Amino acid sequence: MNSICHSLLLLLALSHAQPLTLVELEARSECQPGWIELPGYGCYLFDLNWSLDWLQAARNCQKLGGHLVEIETQDEQNGLTSIARIIGEDFWIGLTDIGHDGNYRWMYSGNEVSYTNWAANEPDGGIPQSCVMMFSGYGYDFGWTDIKCTEWSAHPLCEANYYQGRKMY
Ligand SMILES: *[C@@H]1O[C@H](CO)[C@@H](O)[C@H](O)[C@H]1NC(C)=O
Repeated sequence: MNSICHSLLLLLALSHAQPLTLVELEARSECQPGWIELPGYGCYLFDLNWSLDWLQAARNCQKLGGHLVEIETQDEQNGLTSIARIIGEDFWIGLTDIGHDGNYRWMYSGNEVSYTNWAANEPDGGIPQSCVMMFSGYGYDFGWTDIKCTEWSAHPLCEANYYQGRKMY
C-alpha cells in the first residue's frame, strides 16, 4: 500500500473514533496531574476553575508553574481545538499587542507571532482590543479573536515545559 493511501485510511479511522474524554486524556499524560499532554507539543492546562481577565489569567498560569499557551503550529492548534471543543468554552492564549499595536507577540517568549489561527475578519479591534482569545462563539470554532484585555473573562489555557524539574518540552 502506498503511503498516501495509508494516510487516508488512518485519517478515516481517526475521524470515526470516539473522542477521548478529558479524564482519559489526563490519565495518558506524563505532565503534572490535571494537565493534558499533546505528545510532541507540550503539557496544557485548560483551567476551568477560573474565569479571569487576561492579565489575571497569565498570573494564574505562572502560579501553577506555566505560562499562557503559545501556539506555534497548525498541528498544535488542532490538538488544542479538539480538546476545547469537548469543553465548549472560551480560553485566553498568551498573545498580545499591548504597547505595539498590530504587532502581535507571545508574552512569555517575546517572539513575534508567525503561525496564526485568526478567525475570519480578525483581528479587528485596534488599540482597545489587545489580547487574544480562542473563541467558542459566532461559529469561530476556537479561531483567534482580539478582545479587550480587562473587560472580558475567560479560562486560562496554560502551557508548561517542566514537571518536577524535568524538561518535558
Ligand atoms: C481546581 O480546584 C480544585 C478544587 O478546589 C482543586 O483541587 C484543583 O487543584 C484546582 N485546579 C487547579 C488547576 O488549580
